[in-house]
Amino acid sequence: MPAGLVDRYGRRATDMRLSLTDKCNLRCTYCMPAEGLEWLAKQAVMSAEEIVRIVRIGVEALGVRELRLTGGEPLVRADLLSIIAALRQAHPELPISMTTNAVGLDKKAAGLKAAGLTRINVSLDSLHEETFTKLTRRPFLDKVLAGVDAAWAAGLGPVKLNAVLMRGINDAESPALLAWALDRGYELRFIEQMPLDADHGWTRRDMITAAEIRELLSVDYVLSNDPRSRDGAPAERFEVRHRVPGTNEAIGDVLGTVGIIASVTEPFCADCRRTRVTAEGKIMSCLFSREEVDLLGLLREGASDDQLAERWQDAMWIKPKAHGMDHVGLDAPDFIQPDRSMSAIGG
Ligand code: GTP
Ligand code: 5AD
Ligand code: SF4
Repeated sequence: MPAGLVDRYGRRATDMRLSLTDKCNLRCTYCMPAEGLEWLAKQAVMSAEEIVRIVRIGVEALGVRELRLTGGEPLVRADLLSIIAALRQAHPELPISMTTNAVGLDKKAAGLKAAGLTRINVSLDSLHEETFTKLTRRPFLDKVLAGVDAAWAAGLGPVKLNAVLMRGINDAESPALLAWALDRGYELRFIEQMPLDADHGWTRRDMITAAEIRELLSVDYVLSNDPRSRDGAPAERFEVRHRVPGTNEAIGDVLGTVGIIASVTEPFCADCRRTRVTAEGKIMSCLFSREEVDLLGLLREGASDDQLAERWQDAMWIKPKAHGMDHVGLDAPDFIQPDRSMSAIGG
């Protein structure tokens, strides 16, 4: 097997996504059931020391170049600051980012920056109190907005925002959400909803597609391809300008950038660079892989760094070609939704 985290199709994973916890303080309908899930026992979750060791193996032996901390909600983890500080001490140059719902971030942003976090992405699906509460099943919009602003003020930018659009719920709000983000210099990304909800309620009909998103935005804006390289990122980026009403003409300067993450209708599996570690230390080669490879169990049995690296490589070697498994298509008729929901995988 070649060095690094390569798979049978020649892709190389350099972007590591590590989940710190399966717990969350919101209940987004596209991710968690209202009653929550059966949380992992504390003992089942990777400790700070175990996380640091696994990341070190990824970086030093397997070619990991970027780390993203996910959840559940990473901010609910009590030892978050010390985990980040330890990771930063071990890897002074490693980009370490975090995807969060931003509840409580207003009080924690400065500390996270000081501990060594590089930047932050925040889930924000609506600016309307009622819609936000319906979607997340918690009345925390004000807390989230305060968290986003605090992240920016603390130097955790560029701040990226993630909005999953749902038909009849927040789709009509998309141009207003974009205007709000552009005004503040945040990079908003609209996301096609994937079949990763715990309730298995996803339907093709309710998902807002990338084509629909472009159409919704084109009433007010002209989008043109961002000249920067996509570099394997899920988001396709566009430069945004105002539209002269009733024409196809753009007017004025570039207002900022918008991203569209079209996991379902315009998949990017062929260029995927991600390897995932769940909160209980299992390697998932893909969001949709059915095979999970237990790294933490092996570590706790006393395995050496070499043995752990080898198991991680084996796990990545069997990465599926695409999320429709043999073919591309989350909306293919024979696609079967995985048992794990987004929060239990780590976003
Ligand atoms: P940046 O480095 O800031 O571009 O991060 P990112 O966009 O990769 O990370 P983030 O955690 O913000 O993820 C944004 C969205 O991308 C997620 O909500 C998913 O919808 C989607 N996404 C991330 N990783 C994958 C993946 O491996 N497969 C698919 N299909 N979608 C993914
Ligand atoms: N489809 C697409 N994106 C999702 N997220 C959570 N569940 C889904 C889903 N079913 C996104 C959230 C968050 C990121 C971690 O994953 O918006 O920003
Ligand atoms: Fe929590 Fe994120 Fe899932 Fe929402 S999407 S319930 S914030 S883990």
